Amino acid sequence: MKIGLLTGGGDCPGLNAVIRAVVRKGTNYYGDSFIGFLEGWRGVLDNKTMTLDLAAVNGILPIGGTILRTSRTNATKQPDGLARIEATFKKNGLDALIAIGGDDTLGVAKKLDDAGVKVVGCPKTIDNDLAGTDFTFGFDTAVGIATECIDRLHTTAESHNRVIVVEVMGRDAGWIAMYAGIAGSADVILIPERPIDLAAVCGTIRKQHDAGKLYSIVVVAEGAKVATGAAGESNVLAAGGVDEFGHARLGGIGNFLATEIEKRTGYETRSAILGHIQRGGTPSAFDRVLGTRYGLGAIDLVHEGKFGQMVSLKGNKITSIPLAEAIASNRRVDQDLMSVAEGVLDKPAK
Ligand code: F6P
Repeated sequence: MKIGLLTGGGDCPGLNAVIRAVVRKGTNYYGDSFIGFLEGWRGVLDNKTMTLDLAAVNGILPIGGTILRTSRTNATKQPDGLARIEATFKKNGLDALIAIGGDDTLGVAKKLDDAGVKVVGCPKTIDNDLAGTDFTFGFDTAVGIATECIDRLHTTAESHNRVIVVEVMGRDAGWIAMYAGIAGSADVILIPERPIDLAAVCGTIRKQHDAGKLYSIVVVAEGAKVATGAAGESNVLAAGGVDEFGHARLGGIGNFLATEIEKRTGYETRSAILGHIQRGGTPSAFDRVLGTRYGLGAIDLVHEGKFGQMVSLKGNKITSIPLAEAIASNRRVDQDLMSVAEGVLDKPAK
């Protein structure tokens, strides 16, 4: 078969592991040939391609990012999007397409599947919040980086008797904040699933200081919301405007909290925004293996003719689910993990 491959949305470590596994198994076991579409859906719309053969994937396993590059282009926002994609399929004699991405990229894949295009999905998001799969690659690497940063911030916070607020990624779900916060023994963990209660945050920090622990580490997901009185809750944004999928650019909750905590407690406070550091660099061994397993699962789905499906991890098994199910909702931090955090954190105090 002749198969196209694309990576869409935010990059994350492990994407190259997926690409390599698809190409290696496809070439060596199924006799497939591949076309790499560059920069996500933009590459399919504009037929921007690269050669994707065994030589092209040689040596890419430990490399972060994606050799196909990526973008947040929304193909279905273009009035002639579907026609252009169908034209690209025809021009290249493609039998199928594997789309590696999060809910936005897979949402486009679902629309193409509805229109009869033969497409298979592979889940990808650093935020680990895609429904229908237990873990996405890149998440483990991000948690490792964030945990190392938190470890480092402990010693400088302690030396200066400071509060340090660490802002991590997590638009709709606080998986990175939760895992890195627990692993890095944070004093407070704030996630999008629960609106921030500033009085309780400051109360907890004050209680710790009163008990003789003169520094605190607060981990906050960038998508955690602050109460805005009658207006309800809102995110802190880094910039105006939205991307092609309607997402605002988050960022700044760490600075906001640092200012508020210092004002309310009188303790010197700093913030550290980890940002894209969490998405860059070499994937962890876990993510290399998980990406490889997803890649092998995706090429198998193509050959089983299971179009409109997304490869998925359930327990420790690779399986598949309909794309519709994967994009139906975000997978948010569950009560089990919240209980783990609650078991080791101090009880919130006002
Ligand atoms: O793709 C998920 C994510 O990493 C979010 O956690 C974050 O809000 C967003 O992407 C950042 O996007 P960009 O790299 O386009 O600034």
